[in-house]
Amino acid sequence: MSSEPASGTRPTTNPRRVSTADIVAMKRTGRKIVMLTAYDALFAALVDGAGVDMILVGDSVASVLAGEETTLPATLGQMIYHGRSVQRGTTRALVVVDLPFLSYQISPRDAVRNAGRILKRTGAGAVKLEGGRRYAPTVRALIDAGIPVMGHVGFTPQALHVLGGIRVQGRAEGAAARLEDDALALEAAGAFALVLEFMSAAVAQRVTERLTIPTIGIGAGPHCDGQVLVLHDMLGLNDGFQAKFVKRYAQLADAVRGAVACFADEVRDGRFPDSDHSHR
Ligand code: KIV
Repeated sequence: MSSEPASGTRPTTNPRRVSTADIVAMKRTGRKIVMLTAYDALFAALVDGAGVDMILVGDSVASVLAGEETTLPATLGQMIYHGRSVQRGTTRALVVVDLPFLSYQISPRDAVRNAGRILKRTGAGAVKLEGGRRYAPTVRALIDAGIPVMGHVGFTPQALHVLGGIRVQGRAEGAAARLEDDALALEAAGAFALVLEFMSAAVAQRVTERLTIPTIGIGAGPHCDGQVLVLHDMLGLNDGFQAKFVKRYAQLADAVRGAVACFADEVRDGRFPDSDHSHR
């Protein structure tokens, strides 16, 4: 999709990897953008091979893989480890890595240092950060340093404690207007796309119509320019978590439990390994 490698890029750089410019162009052409999370090379290769446009190495790794209650414990080191794994497992999708809690909130200078470390060490194409107008100067500083940024407004899990829990955003008096203002400020600062999380379809539609950059919805209705889900949720691997906006496209937790129980039975009654799975 992207153009020729620019001078300074190695000739082995995959010219077909989706770029941030490709993502912005998709809004203009009206092609819906498909994004999923991945945290490791194996799943990333499967997701990439199935043709998604972007893969998000979300700080949701802390809750989905590490069993934490929130995303707050995710560290820079973990995001680099998972980001590098995902980048290595993919050849086509644009890989976006979340900036973890406290890696960008303190100062734009900190944000540039930490996001720069992520880009250098993972090879990913962009970072994502949560928050509205307050973070516009940070987004600008990152872009000035050559780091593409995806914004994230609405329900922002890193601010869970100040938001008072997991709840639909944009409903309180003046809140929808503040959300629009946040989205416009991030666009003006140079973000190439925005995640809209957990808000009414009407608010997300209005934000989507006002922006020239694409919106990627999660729990934000059908009018966004694209959609993102957590891979483990949509595959039905994470059966402890069910939100209304998550559609399960497979029931892999059942498949895993069934396979493990079958292995255990066969080991216990001596059917595994059989002659097909043993050396003579
Ligand atoms: O961390 C994450 O997986 C995310 C998505 C839910 C958008 O931010």
